[in-house]
Amino acid sequence: MTVYMLGAGPGDPDLITLKAIKLLKKADVILYDSLANDELLSYAPDDVELIYVGKRAGEHYRKQPEINQLLIDQGKKHETVVRLKGGDPFIFGRGGEEELALLEEGINVEFVPGINSGIGAATSIGLPLTHRAVATSLTLVTGHEDPEKSEKQVNWDYTADTIVVFMGVGLLKKYIPKILKYRSPDTPVCAIEKGTLPDQRIVTGTLADISEKDIRPPALIIIGDVVNIYNKCEELRSKLE
Ligand SMILES: C[S@@+](CC[C@H](N)C(=O)[O-])C[C@H]1O[C@@H](n2cnc3c(N)ncnc32)[C@H](O)[C@@H]1O
Repeated sequence: MTVYMLGAGPGDPDLITLKAIKLLKKADVILYDSLANDELLSYAPDDVELIYVGKRAGEHYRKQPEINQLLIDQGKKHETVVRLKGGDPFIFGRGGEEELALLEEGINVEFVPGINSGIGAATSIGLPLTHRAVATSLTLVTGHEDPEKSEKQVNWDYTADTIVVFMGVGLLKKYIPKILKYRSPDTPVCAIEKGTLPDQRIVTGTLADISEKDIRPPALIIIGDVVNIYNKCEELRSKLE
C-alpha cells in the first residue's frame, strides 16, 4: 500500500529515470497526467489499470480534490499505485498537495524525481540557464497564479539573472509589461514549445516583441542574457553544417 509519485521528465520518453521505470513495471494502477508521455505506459504490466487524470483541450478534467480522493481510494485498494507526473512532481506539479492528502489518510507515499521541463528543455537545446559572468542565479515562476488566492504573490521584480516562466503563454501580454518595469526591452527571450518532443518549436525575441509572437502551450518562456549565449551557439552551430 504505497503510492509512488514519479517524475516522467520533460516529454521525450527516454528522459525518465531507471528507478521510475522499475516502478512502472510493477504498478497495479497508474494515474497519469497529459504532460507525462503516453509511451511510458508501455512499461506497465499488461493487466495494469490506467486512469487518466490530466487536462486536454475540450475534455472534462478532474479538479485537484477529485484527484486526491482517487489517489486515496486507489492507495487503499492496491499494493503499488503509481502517480505519473510530467517533469518533476514538486515543481508546479501539485505533488505536495497529493502528498499531504495521502499522508493525512495514513497512506505511505514515496517519490522519484524527474527532470523538470524548464531545465530539461533548455539543456536539450543547448541553452545554459546559468553562465559564468552572464547569469549566476535562476528563478522558476508560474505565469498563471492560483486564481483563488486573495493576494498576488508574483511581483516580477526578481533579481535573478534568468527567469523561466511556466504556464506562461496565455497571460504573456499581462505579465511582460510588469517585467518591463524592471528590465530593458532588449532583454532576450526564448520560448520552447513542446520541449524535447519531435514537434518542438523554438521562438526567440525580446521583452519588447515576445508577446506578439505565435507561441502555443505547453511552453517555457526563458528570459535573460543567457538567451544571447544560445543565439550565439545557434549561429556557430549553423556553420557546422
Ligand atoms: C503544471 S506545469 C508542470 C511542470 C512539471 N511538473 C515540470 O516539472 O516540468 C505545466 C507547464 O510546464 C511546462 N512544460 C511542461 N512540459 C513541457 C514541455 N515539454 N515543453 C514546454 N513546456 C513544458 C509548460 O510551461 C506547462 O504549461
